[in-house]
Amino acid sequence: MKPTTLPVKARAHTNIALVKYWGKKDEDLIIPQNSSLSLTLDQFYTDTAVQFRDELAADQITFNGRTLTGDAQRKISRFLNVVRDLAGITEFASVETTNHVPTAAGLASSASGFAALAGAASRAAGLQLAPRDLSRLARRGSGSATRSIFGGFAAWQMGHNDEDSYGYPIAENVNWDIAVVAVVLTTAAKKISSRQGMRAAVKTSPYYPAWVQTATQDFETVRKAINDKDFETLGHVSEENAMRMHALNLSADPSFTYFNADTLRAMAIITDLRAAGYPCYFTIDAGPNIKVLCQKLAVEKVVSSLQSAFGEDAVLVVHPGPGLTFITD
Ligand code: ADP
Ligand code: DP6
Ligand code: CO
Repeated sequence: MKPTTLPVKARAHTNIALVKYWGKKDEDLIIPQNSSLSLTLDQFYTDTAVQFRDELAADQITFNGRTLTGDAQRKISRFLNVVRDLAGITEFASVETTNHVPTAAGLASSASGFAALAGAASRAAGLQLAPRDLSRLARRGSGSATRSIFGGFAAWQMGHNDEDSYGYPIAENVNWDIAVVAVVLTTAAKKISSRQGMRAAVKTSPYYPAWVQTATQDFETVRKAINDKDFETLGHVSEENAMRMHALNLSADPSFTYFNADTLRAMAIITDLRAAGYPCYFTIDAGPNIKVLCQKLAVEKVVSSLQSAFGEDAVLVVHPGPGLTFITD
């Protein structure tokens, strides 16, 4: 392959997992213990530009305007090595990436980040990958990025190896009544990354085998609920699935949690609203921030209740978003 002479820019959106990925079978290739399913979101995304250049003596990575060094730099360089191997090139790259989402706060920056990087780096290396192969490539950076290649509802088939572990779209155009209210309680970076957290859960939670079993059932149930446009089932099972994932962390040795006091308050608000007849369910990824799955008739009430508790700026209404796109200017 021949690298492009101009930078290639790509945009990918984050996704919120409804049936979560929480544990790897293969840490190097990032093969998960269960299939997972998510909704790509329109408001949170990453823009990344990549160019492989002869004159560089090392990869040069600018992350939100700052040059990366150390482990953070090495993580992206390792990913670029995968791209270089695939394309049969040796040039180093300049990478410029900007997150329009808080980084490492449980809002899935690794999903949008590595999906955008997979797109921009592969094209910049001269490769033209099909969506499935882009998803397989994105997986090498972060598991959740497999699903951010696609818009709307997307799944990640766990598979067994590099070839058969990839994301695919379930319904890219979400033409039914579903919105997500995101509550950003804090933008601080988590102390335990998703990678470390899930490793601890697999190794030490006595409930881990039950997780794999129930998550596998949840995947089928939620997939069917999406097909049937059955909001109640989708919401109920997603909330259960999230709570079980967080129960793995509480039951790990040493025990840990991504929840903070506001997370618990927000959960109680949603449980109460539901008891009062509003169709809404929460889910939480690896961080304290909460997302609420709602039907239209509940959005206003959910937003106002959460705003009175956490302030106006903390609450955002987001919608299903698109898959990976290339930006030309
Ligand atoms: P999050 O909840 O934000 O996904 P994770 O612990 O899963 O948190 O991942 C955070 C890590 O994802 C960062 O430390 C970094 O390694 C990677 N990441 C985030 N944004 C980007 C980006 N734009 N490009 C490349 N890697 C990124
Ligand atoms: C709770 O994809 O961030 O958001 O593959 O180690 O980078 P790595 O982990 P990551 O884990 C995501 C965990 C989750 C659930 C999910 O998105 O499925
Ligand atoms: Co992540």
